[in-house]
Amino acid sequence: MKVDVLLGLQWGDEGKGKVVDVLTPRYDVIARFQGGPNAGHTLEFNNIKHVLHTIPSGIFRENKINVIGNGVVIDPAIFRKEIDSLSKIGFDISENLYVSRKAHLILPTHRLLDAASEAAKGKSKIGSTLKGIGPTYRDKIGRDGLRVGDLFENFDEKYNQRKEFHIKQLEKFYEFDYQEQLVQFEQEWFEGIELLKQYKMVNSEQFINDALNSGKSVIAEGAQGTLLDIDFGTYPFVTSSNTVCAGACTGLGIAPGKIGRVFGIFKAYCTRVGMGPFPTELFDETGQKLRDVGNEYGSTTGRPRRCGWIDMVALKYSIMVNGVTDLIMMKTDVLDNFDTIKACMAYKINGELTTELPYELNEKIEPVYTEVPGWNCDLTEVTSEDKFPDALKDYIRFIEKETGVNISIVSVGPNRNQTIIRDSF
Ligand code: GDP
Ligand code: IMO
Ligand code: MG
Repeated sequence: MKVDVLLGLQWGDEGKGKVVDVLTPRYDVIARFQGGPNAGHTLEFNNIKHVLHTIPSGIFRENKINVIGNGVVIDPAIFRKEIDSLSKIGFDISENLYVSRKAHLILPTHRLLDAASEAAKGKSKIGSTLKGIGPTYRDKIGRDGLRVGDLFENFDEKYNQRKEFHIKQLEKFYEFDYQEQLVQFEQEWFEGIELLKQYKMVNSEQFINDALNSGKSVIAEGAQGTLLDIDFGTYPFVTSSNTVCAGACTGLGIAPGKIGRVFGIFKAYCTRVGMGPFPTELFDETGQKLRDVGNEYGSTTGRPRRCGWIDMVALKYSIMVNGVTDLIMMKTDVLDNFDTIKACMAYKINGELTTELPYELNEKIEPVYTEVPGWNCDLTEVTSEDKFPDALKDYIRFIEKETGVNISIVSVGPNRNQTIIRDSF
């Protein structure tokens, strides 16, 4: 068996959580491979709306194995809050959740360092979710990180050593006032540690490969999106992990040849939360309309998301670096009331046209648009593709022709059942 990968092709929040939940019945194992609680994956079904941060989106389906892989960074305090809110709505997930011993821990001081670093950057801040992601991956790559497996041996000593070092940084480089927050963060964090220790720990690379060898099917759930990838995103306005398909290999311990289908998920338009370039961003009433209709406010931070038209230059780039085999178009219903829809086909930079994503996306880029007719009807009740209005069929064909990849799933609302799996799936 192979591992199918589902990942975002834009700047995150494409709707990964919803689709992983929809596809989970087809798989035995659902695994997160990178990122951490900077992610906010929303699921809606049976009048439940739930946002997951660290826990894979397969958790609501019975008898499915959910794995937090080695590439993920875990904040035990947030982990505990997630578990608590799941148990409040009647889900006990202790049997179905497995945590990699090699996943790194976000320490309270990582969160403080994230805040201090952003404050120090002032106007050029990244717009981080302030969950401690950057500092945690920095320690991981610097070979100074603490892992879940460390919780069971001499942990206090290792923790205090790291904490003292971080405090020196906070005091010396950032002059950051940390004391009060640290006391509160640590209390929540150590409570979280006690809970985390009760979960099933695995060497997830062995666990996943054993599952594949015994005929189990696996889907890897990406977090963030390709344009936030540490290598291929709009650096430095990115997150600190590889969000692309290759991240599933390193974040779970699976060989490249074991990758099966790659589901690339995108919104029928485009959004971004946080700072950084966004060539097709709209600052006018159309942008506001997309935000209002699409309810574009961050699932993790509540910040308003920046909105704009679909960017085919960036989408094709994301398809290329991920080897996308199937496209999944989300939030199609948000475009229900537009006479025309625009798609950016090329960038004009200093008078020259290009269809290749440049080294830097900056203000010199002028998006060159094509216009296609909107469908001007309500898609939210549509249940099969033969009921699609002609203008939507044309929009789908247009994207498929431009990208050379089939759109296998079309989403027409936030609910689990507002999902049309096409015959081509
Ligand atoms: P993720 O991070 O990729 O899982 O996406 P988020 O959950 O952060 O953001 C997607 C938002 O869009 C959530 O509020 C979803 O409930 C919502 N959503 C997902 N699919 C659709 C859709 O097809 N139509 C509409 N209107 N909302 C959707
Ligand atoms: P999901 O999985 C959208 C953005 C932040 C910021 C940048 C760096 O829900 O799609 P970080 O906290 O990682 O240091 O922030 O990345 N960002 C996301 N934007 N969706 C996400 O996750 C994101 N995770 C991080 O807004 O611009
Ligand atoms: Mg999200």
